Amino acid sequence: MSVSYDEINSLVAQMTLEEKASLCSGHDNWHIESVERLGVDGYMVTDGPHGLRKQNSDAVDSLYDSVPATCFPTAAGLASTWDRDLLVEVGRALGKETRAESVAVLLGPGINMKRSPLCGRNFEYFSEDPVLAGELAARLIEGIQGEGVGTSLKHFAANNQETDRLRVDADIDERTLREIYLPAFERVVRLANPWTIMCSYNSINGEFSSQNHWLLTEVLRDEWGYDGLVVSDWGAVVDRVKGLAAGLDLQMPGPAPRQDAQIVEAVRSGALDEAILDRTAERVLLLLARAREAMADPGSYDKATHHALARKAAAEAAVLLKNEDDALPLAPDTEIVVIGEFARTPRYQGAGSSKVNPTQVDTALDALREVYPAAAFAPGYTLSDEADPALVSEAQDAARGKCAVLFLGLPPIDESEGYDREHMDIPAQQVDLLHAVAEVATQTVVVLSNGSSVSVSPWRDDATAIVEAWLGGQASGSGVVDVLTGAVEPSGRLAESIPMRLADVPAQLNFPGEL
Ligand code: BGC
Repeated sequence: MSVSYDEINSLVAQMTLEEKASLCSGHDNWHIESVERLGVDGYMVTDGPHGLRKQNSDAVDSLYDSVPATCFPTAAGLASTWDRDLLVEVGRALGKETRAESVAVLLGPGINMKRSPLCGRNFEYFSEDPVLAGELAARLIEGIQGEGVGTSLKHFAANNQETDRLRVDADIDERTLREIYLPAFERVVRLANPWTIMCSYNSINGEFSSQNHWLLTEVLRDEWGYDGLVVSDWGAVVDRVKGLAAGLDLQMPGPAPRQDAQIVEAVRSGALDEAILDRTAERVLLLLARAREAMADPGSYDKATHHALARKAAAEAAVLLKNEDDALPLAPDTEIVVIGEFARTPRYQGAGSSKVNPTQVDTALDALREVYPAAAFAPGYTLSDEADPALVSEAQDAARGKCAVLFLGLPPIDESEGYDREHMDIPAQQVDLLHAVAEVATQTVVVLSNGSSVSVSPWRDDATAIVEAWLGGQASGSGVVDVLTGAVEPSGRLAESIPMRLADVPAQLNFPGEL
């Protein structure tokens, strides 16, 4: 049975202490707990954010074994569109896919501020600007929740680095918190009311977010009026009873029988007011009630339509950083050569919990050859860090006297959830390749694939044009080619700075923060 809004209070009133406590942790990695005696069915929640990562199994090694889903541009790309309507449209598509897979909550979006280009998870976040991040995330949520499924705004709060993310204590005075780290969350809560909010792993001013009463209750609920459910990041719970009292409703992943028992014990001993537990049980049931209609009628979606939307979004995300000599758009009769492994092996999303198993992948090489069937291709570099001079000279020979379109960027190993970068350069072998090609080509058009800013100053003089394509999702290849050929006018704008040097980044002296 599923829960309806008007049953919430009576169901909680009928529950034993143990049943209420059992709702405070998940049934497993991805499911909310059920209460069979009362016919309460727990639904599934899953990652997120720019596509569904619904795992086929719970095995430890099944992180990347998930059902096919459309991989839209990552938040770094979506933010560069500055396009609220597009974000609603992408949100609707995400919501439809979530619903079609009978998942009640998509775990995203992430809106932590980009304080340094080195944060390994910047690709999953929108911007360094709280207003832009808040506006766009709110639109995405409006689209997703409009389809009858929920979101989880994350990671609340101050999760701005991956280094020691489980333990680091973000030491931030209140004014800075309110001016930089919290306003995007506040904006989203007020504009879009995400059904859930995911607390971060780190501490803030000496207290873990998962048990931070000031954050989860005084600010989030009392000031901003949030009525939804707070879920822990996976494994972020430290002291369960303290967390519950602070405003953390759901511990994930589950099951967590030991912590559930601690909650029961705390109520029995008088250490925890039962009213707090009741409120959490009500919030869990409220979430189930909100998803009820969608879970009863999952519906379906059209993969080709969503792929076309992913292509449109990828094109809108591309930012034209430089365009000398009217190199772009490419003229239909230009003799081009395509260079760079990324043209045929695109890098279009980041690694970690957000990694989607795409329904299909477009390559820029295929898309360019639809327009320029005779275009030659040279890989120029490999995806390992090993320099290969033979590949460089092959590319140079192919580029002589032609317009070279080079696909450069960060190899997958350079940025991921779980660790930060140490510098902001693209691999030296790619810079050497560009230099060699620029000596002989008529023009060099560089297309970048990266999830966070990379330095362009060391090599930009070798490029006639530069297009920043970000990690543009499964249709990034065709989407960026639409911009190169002029089928789509480049309208993306930077949502994050590209510093000349790391030393110019205000946060650099404190990045990564220490324990
Ligand atoms: C990540 C979250 C993610 C969760 C579930 C955590 O490690 O920080 O963003 O939603 O895992 O996969």
